[in-house]
Amino acid sequence: MQSGYLENLFGLSGKVAVITGAAGALCSAIARGFSAAGTTVALLDVAAGKVEQLAQAIRSEGGVARPYTCNVLEKASLQKVAESVLADYGRVDVLVNGVGGNRPEATTGPELSFFDLPEGAIRSLFELNFLSAFLCCQAFGRAMAKAGRGAVINIISINAYRPLTRIPAYAAAKAALANFTQWLAVHVAHEYSKGIRVNGIAPGFFLTDQNRFLLLEEGTGELTPRGKSILSHTPAGRFGEPQDLVGAALWLASEAAAFVTGAVIPVDGGFHAYAGV
Ligand SMILES: NC(=O)c1ccc[n+]([C@@H]2O[C@H](COP(=O)([O-])OP(=O)(O)OC[C@H]3O[C@@H](n4cnc5c(N)ncnc54)[C@H](O)[C@@H]3O)[C@@H](O)[C@H]2O)c1
Repeated sequence: MQSGYLENLFGLSGKVAVITGAAGALCSAIARGFSAAGTTVALLDVAAGKVEQLAQAIRSEGGVARPYTCNVLEKASLQKVAESVLADYGRVDVLVNGVGGNRPEATTGPELSFFDLPEGAIRSLFELNFLSAFLCCQAFGRAMAKAGRGAVINIISINAYRPLTRIPAYAAAKAALANFTQWLAVHVAHEYSKGIRVNGIAPGFFLTDQNRFLLLEEGTGELTPRGKSILSHTPAGRFGEPQDLVGAALWLASEAAAFVTGAVIPVDGGFHAYAGV
């Protein structure tokens, strides 16, 4: 193999990545992946204990990581954290917007009809899944605009392509985030620098706390009919593992993706491609 070939193409050593929702199931794996690639990771999460533990674990594995406890929906505290990250590391090369999720109170079912979905739950899902990423792009994008380089990666969902049943607010908020990903990709290239890229990853089904109640029966842990249907529509034949997202995230952050912007990449075991027949 040509010496340095992969390092030139994919190398992320010495870069700084800000990861939001870093203590969560998916983004903790993404954070560890960046760290293993030699990237300094600034870990943002509202769960103080969990994000501190993650930073400690990454440091004990030889990485450079710092926790920043922060509610990304509070603009003033987010701004302070952005200033702290810049004071601590002097640059932001990558922003992974991972905060998001669905909630039972915004999910239709036998006990909760569409007509009774509470307005507060709908609003809060739009804040959690759309506004969170929007505000973080404002807070950390400024440093990228100034530097003329950077990669934003929004963690979206396959719901953005076609809405799944039962979760209308989550699906619509993720569709809004996919739309914003395209908008911002164009805007930063036109107004600031062609060296800033904005992309998304659309995970398929990963068995985590936010969807366990939909995929597994509470008492038995058996697959629900929805869980079975998902697996039968997933050519890979399994749920995703958090580690499955790492390669796409590192690629989108790297020089190998220099001509990729405004894209949303499905990482879903083929779910999105399968028409069911
Ligand atoms: N789990 C899946 O199957 C799946 C599928 C598609 C997309 N996604 C998306 O991937 C992302 C991560 O999902 P996950 O399953 O790891 O979720 P998770 O609930 O495990 O992690 C989310 C993290 O965000 C943090 N957080 C929540 N609100 C916050 C706020 N206001 N400020 C700062 N931190 C906050 C939480 O403390 C948590 O650590 C989400 O955007 C989710 O919608 C997940």
